[in-house]
Amino acid sequence: MFDERSQMALYRLMNHGVIARLGPPIRQGKESLVVYGVTLDGRELAVKVHTSKVFGKRERKQYLFGDWRYRHAKRHITLRTESMWAEKEYRNLARLEKKGIPAPLPLGFEENIVVMTLVGGNGVAAPQLNELESGDYTALSKMVLAALEKLVSRAHLVHGDLSPYNIVVWDRKPFIIDVSQAVLVSHPDAARLLENDFRNVAAFFELKDVDVDDYYRVQAEITEEVRQRQKESLVRPDSQY
Ligand SMILES: Nc1ncnc2c1ncn2[C@@H]1O[C@H](COP(=O)(O)OP(=O)(O)OP(=O)(O)O)[C@@H](O)[C@H]1O
Ligand SMILES: [Mg+2]
Repeated sequence: MFDERSQMALYRLMNHGVIARLGPPIRQGKESLVVYGVTLDGRELAVKVHTSKVFGKRERKQYLFGDWRYRHAKRHITLRTESMWAEKEYRNLARLEKKGIPAPLPLGFEENIVVMTLVGGNGVAAPQLNELESGDYTALSKMVLAALEKLVSRAHLVHGDLSPYNIVVWDRKPFIIDVSQAVLVSHPDAARLLENDFRNVAAFFELKDVDVDDYYRVQAEITEEVRQRQKESLVRPDSQY
């Protein structure tokens, strides 16, 4: 199931006492495999093994295939990129934890693997928002919006890939996941990404007959805030962040 590097990284995480035992796969994503795990004291884990992201098969072919000069670099670039995503995900999760935004808690990372708490319980992973069979969508919508607002104004991050697939729901509460690609609000594309994130989530709730006017109001407010921060960061590139 795992390549050699992932096996070595898992071995180290077990040696360091981050993971006690691994269980079955939770989900095979496009660019990751998420596996169930448990800590020594019985806490349930989601162990996310990043596989290639930036260079999908097609891109990799396009850029590097057939170029003999890159016959080694090809593998090297991919490996490095995956561990970069794992580290970014860990750091972003830590940032969310610090700011009290509902998300898995990060417990460690090693190479291309991030270990976080499982959203769920008793061996069951929480369903994604889009998989819910029923629920109080008005209440969920409010909580998601509050989380998004905090994400920008407190954590200074834009998720960048937000959709009902990257929100899981447990105990009637939403949790934001999949934050490896989240960017600082000072990123040149932040305003556009933010708009996309809001649109994806608002569209989902709108289909569930929730009044999403607040999304557009808040989006306008915080987009303004993002633009303001971008201006500031042009003046003082290393301030605050
Ligand atoms: N901490 C967690 N608790 C419960 N389920 C999780 C957790 N992390 C991930 N999952 C499940 O695994 C799925 C895949 O994880 P994630 O979204 O982080 O990676 P991905 O989908 O492969 O990344 P991408 O969206 O970039 O393709 C999630 O949609 C969710 O169902
Ligand atoms: Mg995802």
